[in-house]
Amino acid sequence: MNITITGRDSDTVAVDNAEIILHLVMDGEDTLSKLDFELKPAMTSIGKITFLYGVRGEQHRALVGLGTLAKLDVEQLRRAAGCAARAISREGYRSAAVHLNLSTNVERVTPESLVEAWVEGWLLGGYTFDKYKQHPREQVIDKLLLISESNDPQSFNPLIARSVSRAESTMLARDWCNEPANVMTPSHLVEQVQQLFAERNVETRVFQGEELVHFGMNGLLAVGQGSRHQPALVELTYVTDPSLPLLALVGKGMTFDMGGMNMKTGRDLSEARFDMGGACAVIGALDYLVCNEARANVVALIAIADNVPGSGALLPSSTVRYANGLTVQVSNTDAEGRLILADALLHAERLGADEIIDIATLTGSVGHALGLRVAGVWGDRSCTEKLHSLGELNGDRVWPMPLIDDDEDLLRSDYADLSNISSSAYGGANAAALFLRRFVDDSIRWTHIDMANTVQSPADRGYEAAGATGFGVRLLADYVIHYSTNR
Ligand code: BES
Ligand code: ZN
Ligand code: ZN
Repeated sequence: MNITITGRDSDTVAVDNAEIILHLVMDGEDTLSKLDFELKPAMTSIGKITFLYGVRGEQHRALVGLGTLAKLDVEQLRRAAGCAARAISREGYRSAAVHLNLSTNVERVTPESLVEAWVEGWLLGGYTFDKYKQHPREQVIDKLLLISESNDPQSFNPLIARSVSRAESTMLARDWCNEPANVMTPSHLVEQVQQLFAERNVETRVFQGEELVHFGMNGLLAVGQGSRHQPALVELTYVTDPSLPLLALVGKGMTFDMGGMNMKTGRDLSEARFDMGGACAVIGALDYLVCNEARANVVALIAIADNVPGSGALLPSSTVRYANGLTVQVSNTDAEGRLILADALLHAERLGADEIIDIATLTGSVGHALGLRVAGVWGDRSCTEKLHSLGELNGDRVWPMPLIDDDEDLLRSDYADLSNISSSAYGGANAAALFLRRFVDDSIRWTHIDMANTVQSPADRGYEAAGATGFGVRLLADYVIHYSTNR
């Protein structure tokens, strides 16, 4: 997509050449003065696109509703831009120009953030995953012209480039997460990661087979033992400033979660391919940081396996002995995420991490607690608070959840140090977090994100397309940038 910016009166030829011109409209506006056009209230609601088809040779136009002034912020703008991109692309337009100005001043939206939000939302809203369709929808729209009120519109170009990069890293995460299980096997994911970071400022190390045995990464070995695809831990090191404390980003990369011997049932289990959403978040974030040459001292650890039943598969009641000496009774093979994350958390400690953030599609329970629009976050107070405030701005929303010491008891095992499931039917996401905490040394600042409820969108809405959301890419990237700029 070619994205350019111009001043209001400076490039009238380019504006005239756009196949459609977009105007932003807000609740309370009753005329679009520029066009002398009477607005109806429904036209200004958030994400509403009203086409004004050109007659007698006039240029086509569309109105983009931004909703109420009181609620307008960068996230609403991204959503509106996403709706606009989708609608305009479906109508078959090849180029568009948008007047990026608001009729009223909104404190929360600066001219810079308006441009950034529009570009990011526009690109993400235009995303489709249709490579397996015989007739994929053509990406017809390939030109976007931003019309700015600024006296120096070209000064926005670096912001535009950054928003393009954010959207691209997020779409990379969506692409990989959306891939079906017959393509996205553990070894395919390993190869994709190797390829993505080859020839870039990232050191890649892959632990498989004997190396997993050597380091006692027995959770990965146990979970992966039922599959013909071997499990792996991928370590990606990106250091541009070694004086910063080492931050480890740990992602759950279950390429398919069939539940193992506790086999999942259901009419359609296609969604079990999204169980690598945490891994995709970490990979996308790192991709963004590397593209933008961010200052960082980061190691990404991707724990990769598939969880399938079979004669060689892990049996319930089995025990797993971890590198820190802890033993786990595998009461339920569908609670496999925590088993592989435990290896990665211990590996982060081995590498000397000062802080760890893990992100995983860990429990169905987090969705029962929080619904489908905000992920759960546990652990270090200052990190969870920062993630919360960043998410309110960037759209990857999280909500702080409790670690209740008294609940440790729920993970008691009769014959091992702990069980991989809680004895209670309630608070499963909290119990999973408590399980993970057992694998993190007290000296390390640790935060856990359960994104099982936000990994996918049930429908096209705002800047999301039905399927993988790419949740966590922007959140982790912003956190790393905040982490390094505040030290
Ligand atoms: N990957 C699932 C969690 C999940 C559920 C992700 C729904 C996305 C949508 C995880 O491995 C799992 O199966 N967890 C079990 C744990 C239970 C057996 C204690 C769950 O949440 O049901
Ligand atoms: Zn599972
Ligand atoms: Zn899982």
